[in-house]
Amino acid sequence: MTLTAHPSRALQGTIAVPGDKSISHRALMLGALAVGETRVSGLLEGEDVLATGEALRQMGAEITRHADGSWSIWGVGVGGLKEPETALDFGNSGTGVRLMMGIVAGHPITATFIGDASLSKRPMGRVITPLTEMGAHIHAREGGRLPLTLTGAERALPITYPLPVASAQVKSAVLFAGLNAPGQTTVIEPAPTRDHTELMLKAFGAQVVTEEGPKGVRVIRVTGEPELKACTLAVPGDPSSAAFPVVAALVTPGSDITVTGITLNSHRSGLYTTLIDMGADIEILNQRQEGGEPVADLRVKASELKGIEVPPERAPSMIDEYPVLAVAASFAEGKTVMRGAEELRVKESDRIAATAAGLRANGVKVEDLPDGMIVEGRAGTVDGGGHVATHMDHRIAMSFLTLGLGAQKPVTIDAGEMIATSFPDFTGLMRRLGAQLESGANA
Ligand code: S3P
Repeated sequence: MTLTAHPSRALQGTIAVPGDKSISHRALMLGALAVGETRVSGLLEGEDVLATGEALRQMGAEITRHADGSWSIWGVGVGGLKEPETALDFGNSGTGVRLMMGIVAGHPITATFIGDASLSKRPMGRVITPLTEMGAHIHAREGGRLPLTLTGAERALPITYPLPVASAQVKSAVLFAGLNAPGQTTVIEPAPTRDHTELMLKAFGAQVVTEEGPKGVRVIRVTGEPELKACTLAVPGDPSSAAFPVVAALVTPGSDITVTGITLNSHRSGLYTTLIDMGADIEILNQRQEGGEPVADLRVKASELKGIEVPPERAPSMIDEYPVLAVAASFAEGKTVMRGAEELRVKESDRIAATAAGLRANGVKVEDLPDGMIVEGRAGTVDGGGHVATHMDHRIAMSFLTLGLGAQKPVTIDAGEMIATSFPDFTGLMRRLGAQLESGANA
């Protein structure tokens, strides 16, 4: 199904975006490893998270949705997962597959991991290497790609693992495998990445210690074989999803919107810092703590943006937001330089190539770099009129619909289906703000 975004009148209103994807995956996983009933409100009911829930059910966890939209997970205890009878299908989700590989690696069971065409192209070697060191046996397709079969360790070895890339997914896979290893498992990260795993492990009663080293290096240790205690969790709104209405409001003249209840965890808020550096009128309101995460409402008004050099060291805190930042940069005056984000090449698509192609199709000049891009801003007037290939990538899809709302001519994306992986009611919520989004037949 194609989707077309038409140049929009001013966006107005207040919305809440769905629950955070990273936190939702972890809530189901740790709930499944805890003893007793974990209650979760605000869970993201996107396809990625539902696939994780299904995989956990296949291994013995009981997971149900209540009429009020909250979820219960009855866990099996650390080490208690049973061997699944059929392959575990993670759809489009890198987080789902990599974190679950970590969990299964600590159980003496065999499971086959599969995913869609996009996920089957993505590198799993980054988790295969440490998990093999911990005692798992993994057979993957060439290049460490899915499908793969993993037999977990009879008795996992605790390791000390310096991450070759700053990746919260790899960090989390090793920490999760370490849950069923004796003694301490240690991960050393070269730059701070999102810390939802550490925060949530603590909430479930595990012992996790983080030491800050020089130049952003962090050492994280988890003590194995804890009894995880079921808990009650509230998942805050996803800042990566909020990014789309926020940028849409910034680039659509006259807009004034509020997005409520999103987490502004410092490892996730790099886009907002960057937009404010570019001159965005974003007010951070009602700052509070909810479920161990800092939460706030954002009031956003249409703004004249200026191009900037984004500090490369900010990349881990905004890694999923570069496509939509590139959209904001297209409306800015002057160049925006984004570097230090080579990981974008191995996301749901090659996001540097996909973003650059989409911008060019809409009359924006862009230079792609191995680790980012330079966007030449059009000072408020972006042509639009392009047809954009999304390459099975939800964030490319939503980014270019966002561009279309502020552009001179409509923008069409080739497929809208993948949006449901992370932001099921994207079109509904955007229409409530006044956006004109129209669905069409297959491209
Ligand atoms: C995620 C970590 C990030 C991010 C992904 C979610 C997580 O990936 O891109 O969407 O939940 O841990 P990397 O840690 O591989 O950069």
